Amino acid sequence: MDKYDALSAAIGSEVTTSIDPVPADPIVIKLQKALCDELLASYQYWTCYQSSRGRGKSDCDPEFKAHAEEEREHAEKLMLRINELHGRPIPHPANWAENAPFGYTPIENTNVREMLTITIQAEENAIAYYKEILKDATAEADPTTHRLIKQILADEEEHLYDLQQLLGDVFLAEE
Ligand SMILES: [Fe+2]
Ligand SMILES: [Fe+2]
Repeated sequence: MDKYDALSAAIGSEVTTSIDPVPADPIVIKLQKALCDELLASYQYWTCYQSSRGRGKSDCDPEFKAHAEEEREHAEKLMLRINELHGRPIPHPANWAENAPFGYTPIENTNVREMLTITIQAEENAIAYYKEILKDATAEADPTTHRLIKQILADEEEHLYDLQQLLGDVFLAEE
């Protein structure tokens, strides 16, 4: 008897030890991938906020922190929608980067300009992926997912604009 059987016997009911198989619904699979991307995006911004040093830090830190929180909120909304569609999130964090549509670029030094370059690319990738999802999750086929993705897409476009403004104001204006 393994520990789950023992627990099951102890509480007198069946204990589920594995998750459902990956659903075939292509929209759920895309939402799962977007969820991985959002969780990683939040972590990436949080790493920027915690690691930045020198020129641009005081201008960019508030934006990095705000974006970290907003990406986490996107993840929460995607997780809820995946559940509503009877899917499950990717179970292990070790698999997030390989399932994210564009992988993950780590923040490996304290240079704020490099952080802006990396996060601008990440936002451009996210925007491209959400537009891709909208091709499947149309207003007719899945109005709820369509509305959610459009809301998130608008936030990502705002993030991209914020970062581009910062790059221009802090680094490019004096060159
Ligand atoms: Fe996001
Ligand atoms: Fe974003």
